[in-house]
Amino acid sequence: MNTFYQNTGASLLVAGFFAFSASPVFANDKADKNAFQHPFPNLSAELKFNHSLGRSLFEKFWVASPSSTTASDGLGPLYNARSCHSCHLNNAKGHAPDHLQSAAFVPSFFVRLKRWPRPVDFDPKKAVTGDATYGTQLQTLSTTELQPEANLMVEYQYSTLNFADGTAIELRKPSYKVTKLGYGDFNSDTLLSGRVSPALTGVGLIDALDATSILSREDINDENNDGISGRANHVWDKINQSWQVGRFGWKATVATLSEQNQSAFNGDLGLSTPLLTSAYGDCTNNQTACLNLANGNSEHLDNLEVSNKVMSLVNQFSALSAPSRIRNLANTQFMQGKAVFDQLNCVGCHTPKMTTGLENEYNVLSNITFYPFSDFLLHDMGEGLADNGNEFDAKGNEWRTAPLWGNALNKTTSGRESYLHDGRARNLFEAIAWHGGEAKQSQSGFLQLDKKQRSDLIYFLESL
Ligand code: HEC
Ligand code: HEC
Repeated sequence: MNTFYQNTGASLLVAGFFAFSASPVFANDKADKNAFQHPFPNLSAELKFNHSLGRSLFEKFWVASPSSTTASDGLGPLYNARSCHSCHLNNAKGHAPDHLQSAAFVPSFFVRLKRWPRPVDFDPKKAVTGDATYGTQLQTLSTTELQPEANLMVEYQYSTLNFADGTAIELRKPSYKVTKLGYGDFNSDTLLSGRVSPALTGVGLIDALDATSILSREDINDENNDGISGRANHVWDKINQSWQVGRFGWKATVATLSEQNQSAFNGDLGLSTPLLTSAYGDCTNNQTACLNLANGNSEHLDNLEVSNKVMSLVNQFSALSAPSRIRNLANTQFMQGKAVFDQLNCVGCHTPKMTTGLENEYNVLSNITFYPFSDFLLHDMGEGLADNGNEFDAKGNEWRTAPLWGNALNKTTSGRESYLHDGRARNLFEAIAWHGGEAKQSQSGFLQLDKKQRSDLIYFLESL
């Protein structure tokens, strides 16, 4: 169970937080738009330099092949965006399209495609079985020689939920409207699941957790009877060629940061990487025109589009970007909001404190205590949030507890607020109101809060 809140008194808790804020490994108090991309301050000169080179590659716009700039070509031919930065602006969270806005204008959102139930010949080492023609995500952009896969729009249905004091919250539930399918129909069993880009805050620390620190919080049969179970996703780790605990993605389908980053290059940008060597990204065998176009694999780049060197620098940028520090610790409203957060048992899933393992490729990430507010486990969040198809072990209604760190800075870093896996929630109230399943009790308690308690809770969340 959660030692941080349950075994410490309030005064110790404050001491813990202060110890955290004095910790030299964390970035500074800057709450500017770069808040999520400052390197850890105690890096060697070499790592600091690599972090900044990696950042420029993260921000680089890739172009179609053939091109005179072979170091930047190979985009697509089908793709969702032209740079990592387009979706993870300043390492921050993306947002969902507005009602009936074309997704082509909102790169930070795409739909995952998965067949459910899985066909009989499915590959258990893949998170999902993609559509036979369109693959595992719908690419709404393409190079000029090719048609994009489709036009995608999000259509929202609006409803209202009331707090006990009568104050209304307007909710919107998305459905997906796909037109101009470029390559024939989907399989009849293909499901669409919307995904907004998460913030990339502290992903190096998540990567540096020992699997046991995630597994130790599992309570598969809810033995403590708090209505909350929580279990890890067990996923095929393509780098280590073994089954491991999943930790990245909204359903925790990826075990390592490097694999996650490489699958982004491959699936989102259509680039070959040391691990995922297809230069055509998510093009399938049924998309022959795509497979016949030029690619950007170059001899001087290890016969890839994203060479080992480039991959390593992008990995270093993401691993070595420090999370921002919790603010307002000395403020009474922070403590009052924390009390509400405790009382509603939000901590049952949003584990405040974690410590990384002792062995890590970067010394600076070893044995670090950090504050993600997530247990990185899957929880049944109810039918309202379900997408109805499994990804490895994660069922349709199961999602990884979303970390809450950096919430305060979403607006500053990306200009918008957008919460939950498909970005449907436009503010923190809506995000909490959608909690169901194992979080139903917390959500019901939340609806009972009076105005003062609500503003305390938001104050606390916006300080993380
Ligand atoms: C088209 C938009 C898009 C682009 C481009 C993109 N990402 Fe992402 N990224 C996402 C989405 C959406 C997710 C969540 C995926 C899921 O859960 O299915 C994600 C997840 C991640 C995660 C996991 C974060 C976490 O906490 O689980 C990392 C790390 C990441 N991306 C890195 C990158 C890197 C590096 C690049 C560039 C090579 C990149 N992304 C390009 C949309 C994008
Ligand atoms: C049973 C586990 C559980 C409990 C209890 C719980 N949450 Fe969550 N929370 C989640 C999961 C899982 C998600 C991601 C759901 C999704 O994306 O569909 C989430 C998402 C969120 C988000 C959106 C974060 C983002 O980046 O999109 C906020 C804010 C949040 N929770 C706050 C709270 C608060 C406040 C409470 C207490 C009132 C609470 N949660 C209780 C599991 C839980």
